[in-house]
Amino acid sequence: MQKFVYEYATKVYFGEGAAKEHLAAAVSGYGKNVMLAYGGGSVKKNGIYDEVKKILEDAGKKVTDFGGIRSNPTYAKVQEGAALARREKIDFILAVGGGSVIDCCKIVAAQAKTDRDLWEMEMSDRQFPDEVIPMGAVVTASGTGAEMNGGAVITNEEKVVKAGMAAAAPRFAVLDPLYTASVPKMQVISGAFDTLSHAMETYFGNSDQDNVSDDVSLAIMKNTVVNMRRLIENADDMQARGNLMWDSAMAENGILKVGRLTDFQAHQIEHQLGAYTDCNHGQGLAAIHPAYYRHIVKDAEAKFARFSKEVFGAETAAEGVEALAGFIRTCGLPTKLGDLRSKVEITPEILRKVADTCNVIKCGPRELSRDEIYEILMECR
Ligand code: NZQ
Ligand code: ZN
Repeated sequence: MQKFVYEYATKVYFGEGAAKEHLAAAVSGYGKNVMLAYGGGSVKKNGIYDEVKKILEDAGKKVTDFGGIRSNPTYAKVQEGAALARREKIDFILAVGGGSVIDCCKIVAAQAKTDRDLWEMEMSDRQFPDEVIPMGAVVTASGTGAEMNGGAVITNEEKVVKAGMAAAAPRFAVLDPLYTASVPKMQVISGAFDTLSHAMETYFGNSDQDNVSDDVSLAIMKNTVVNMRRLIENADDMQARGNLMWDSAMAENGILKVGRLTDFQAHQIEHQLGAYTDCNHGQGLAAIHPAYYRHIVKDAEAKFARFSKEVFGAETAAEGVEALAGFIRTCGLPTKLGDLRSKVEITPEILRKVADTCNVIKCGPRELSRDEIYEILMECR
């Protein structure tokens, strides 16, 4: 294990009825002006918006709506939210949604507190916000784990870059599996694959063997796969949705990453693919992972063999990679880039741009060249 400092920044309220039971008290310590942020409208259809708004108003809050945050949130939407937060003198931001809404709010919370351009500040000057509007998250679609960390993934459409930005973690997260009941099965599966990917990308980071975090990562992978299988059988299995909700938070709350390096190369490729195509994050990862792992399996053979055995009951390292590919097929997730919903045709020229602009990770099993990333992407077509 390497040296680490770890602190949970986010208080979690998990379980059925968690918003009704805890939300009023959770927001009570903050000022009167609350921004209620949400996505494209699912929360209005399923009643969550009305329920949350009533809790806030009954708690004496003045609620300002900030809706229409779309999947793969944009930097332009962040600016819109920050302007609104300044204008309405917002004291607290409540994100009600999946990773996209939560991520957008994290950066709104930071941008509203500075006149500097946050993208330039972070990407060019490597300076990070020291003041934010406090925020909380009510999770309505799980998978990213965004509710328990201080990172956010934002698409800068002008620059055609989708990248991680740093802000503050939510002060609290409300995790009610029933709030995910209306999420379509394919979105639940896509989100859960994202969770599986987070655990795999952490586990395959280049770190010493015999690391307790590896054991925890493998446990999260196993549980995620088991519960994805349950959901494929029965989309209404709330026990499975609840397990996946906590798997999701566990995979990205930092606990798996303590004392070790991580990989996240598949994520870096997928994020840039998302910048060009606006594809679904979990589905993009599903299309990329097997091809990536076929390239690096020999560079971490012992780790892959352990993964194979413990997660899929397979024998060898290579069989584990094929078991992962088979699992993706069984889930009905995209197995090729051509299966992804995309705003443009995914041509070799687009893939060359993705390969040339994505981040290259140095602490995975092996550092890839840009040509090899292009090769991997072409194999995913
Ligand atoms: O927009 P609405 O209408 O709400 O619909 C959403 C959206 O279409 C729908 N949805 C959410 N809750 C629902 C529901 N539909 C019915 N009933 C409900 N209760 O689900 C769709 C997907 O939502 P979205 O938030 O986009 O999905 P997800 O949670 O997968 O978030 C994806 C974003 O998170 C980033 C991704 O890159 C992507 O931009 N990530 C964030 C991370 C982080 N901050 O730690 C880590 C991840 O690796 C990831 O990169
Ligand atoms: Zn992810």
